[in-house]
Amino acid sequence: MANYNKIQTLVLMFALLISFTMANFGFLGGKASCEKVFGVRSGDNCTGIAQMFKLSTVTFDSNNPNLKCDALFVGQWLCVAA
Ligand SMILES: *[C@@H]1O[C@H](CO)[C@@H](O)[C@H](O)[C@H]1NC(C)=O
Repeated sequence: MANYNKIQTLVLMFALLISFTMANFGFLGGKASCEKVFGVRSGDNCTGIAQMFKLSTVTFDSNNPNLKCDALFVGQWLCVAA
């Protein structure tokens, strides 16, 4: 029974890690209410994508909090309709 506490600690740490990771990727936050996503393609930029979906920069920014427009990467998912 000496291992029981060790296992319990490991399970707790694992659960914390998972919830931390999910929070970071937005699974627990605003992304859940996103109705339409757009995958960034090569050459895309924030201005171009906002224009493509007829979004104001304010709407675009509020749909995508914490987005780094100077560090977009191909395959990144952006919320274009909340
Ligand atoms: C962003 O993309 C749009 C549409 O593709 C393009 O017209 C514009 O020049 C681009 N802006 C920059 C800063 O690359």
